[in-house]
Amino acid sequence: MHLAKALTILLLAKCAIIAGKDENKTFEATNEWQEIKEGQEIPAGLHVRINLQTKKKEAKLYEPEKDDHKHSALSNVVENEAKTNHKEAAKPASKISKTLSEALKSLPKERLSIDYSPEQLEQIKRDFKTYSELKKSFSELKDKFKTDAELITQLLNEYKNLSKEHELSLKPQTKLATKLRILEDLDYLVHQIDNALWFIDEGGLEQILLPLVVNETNIDLRIKAVRVLGAVTLNNPKAQIKAFELNFGSHLTQILVSSTVTEELSATLYALGSLLRKFPLALQKILSTSGTQALITVLAKECELKVKAKAITLISDIIVEKNLVLSNYSDSDNPLAAAQYADLNISEWLQSNAFCETVDRLISTNLYELLDQPDSAEYFVIGLESSEKICKSVWSTSPQLRHTLLTIKNRYMHSQNEFRIEVAQMIERLIEVLYSSKSHEEL
Ligand SMILES: *[C@@H]1O[C@H](CO)[C@@H](O)[C@H](O)[C@H]1NC(C)=O
Ligand SMILES: *[C@@H]1O[C@H](CO)[C@@H](O)[C@H](O)[C@H]1NC(C)=O
Ligand SMILES: *[C@@H]1O[C@H](CO)[C@@H](O)[C@H](O)[C@H]1NC(C)=O
Ligand SMILES: *[C@@H]1O[C@H](CO)[C@@H](O)[C@H](O)[C@H]1NC(C)=O
Ligand SMILES: *[C@@H]1O[C@H](CO)[C@@H](O)[C@H](O)[C@H]1NC(C)=O
Repeated sequence: MHLAKALTILLLAKCAIIAGKDENKTFEATNEWQEIKEGQEIPAGLHVRINLQTKKKEAKLYEPEKDDHKHSALSNVVENEAKTNHKEAAKPASKISKTLSEALKSLPKERLSIDYSPEQLEQIKRDFKTYSELKKSFSELKDKFKTDAELITQLLNEYKNLSKEHELSLKPQTKLATKLRILEDLDYLVHQIDNALWFIDEGGLEQILLPLVVNETNIDLRIKAVRVLGAVTLNNPKAQIKAFELNFGSHLTQILVSSTVTEELSATLYALGSLLRKFPLALQKILSTSGTQALITVLAKECELKVKAKAITLISDIIVEKNLVLSNYSDSDNPLAAAQYADLNISEWLQSNAFCETVDRLISTNLYELLDQPDSAEYFVIGLESSEKICKSVWSTSPQLRHTLLTIKNRYMHSQNEFRIEVAQMIERLIEVLYSSKSHEEL
């Protein structure tokens, strides 16, 4: 959820940089951004970004308070709106690489020293390649068009032209490839807030994304459109409002219910998260109706565990967001936002859709997958922690859940892997909360 944080992207740096044979092989990180020289290896756990002005990679030490928490919760949509006047802002301050952020999104959340599987490393490398290709095709385009806004208008026109009669001579494959390429470029551009707003002003949501998300039968196009929607709305209150008004929320929840394709479900969870985050009105409208049920459907359906990990993380983020806003109610300068969050009856929505029982069953029947996937295990543990108060009565009386958690904890505790041990410690604390004799007495 922190990806929106402008340029900065935290990743396991050693896989990002191809090690070379230079004399200074190791990057010396400080608290300041420094360029990573060609061939330098950088230690794990740094903040890495691509400076889009110089096109150079930069890194610095990771500072959790400074980089992560400043932007969590508490600022609601109305409050943020004032800051996003796209008519004047032209600095590419919030431009982040889509492919980088996507790569990270399909991975465990940005964190230090996580162990990536070989496939995940491959994916990161692939995405980095895409990124450099994108940048290249981009600079070619850039030569022709002066501003991002012109570029967006051009892409939208090109897309609309594809649907016109005189283009019927195009082969369907060519047409599809062109549409995908246009969406890819837009995805890159709209990460910047003023670009996203321009895209919306030019009718991009209604004319391009809505028909694709609602009616498109080609799954690649549909997925790409959902991704662009996620990028448009990511930390962009005005865009969130507009997308909400166009009823994208309910279209996304329908996809969550009907799809079984990992990529589509992942993209949809990302877009739904972008749409809902820090937007209490949308949270209320969408989660009190079909949204909660749709998220829990994902937890229960036949699909990959990592998709379910994303679904529970979205639920968990919402609970945490509400708690954060309310816990700071007294010194909040925005009592309206606090009041809106207080109205979100998340407990009721989760309980009435059998969230606690679904999670119990899910974890209890996925022992082997969870033993194999510490990153997913971590997401679930965080999800359990955040919703512990809501589900305690169910979970604390579930012998199979207790058994599964204990088994994972014991296995991880005895591994040689730091990250697994860390997850084991989290599970230990959770077990303490759920199953200690003290808490049994309280029941
Ligand atoms: C390597 O480091 C030394 C000092 O530590 C510095 O003088 C030199 O310029 C560096 N070389 C490169 C290629 O960065
Ligand atoms: C769209 O088609 C019109 C002609 O119908 C043409 O003049 C225009 O250049 C095309 N725009 C793009 C972006 O391809
Ligand atoms: C989807 O298709 C239906 C039936 O063709 C049409 O009525 C509807 O307007 C389309 N929706 C969008 C958003 O394009
Ligand atoms: C809540 O308030 C405390 C004390 O004023 C502050 O330290 C903390 O950062 C605030 N939390 C958020 C999320 O703003
Ligand atoms: C939330 O729902 C529960 C159960 O229906 C109810 O008892 C409680 O008063 C509701 N809370 C709020 C804040 O609406």
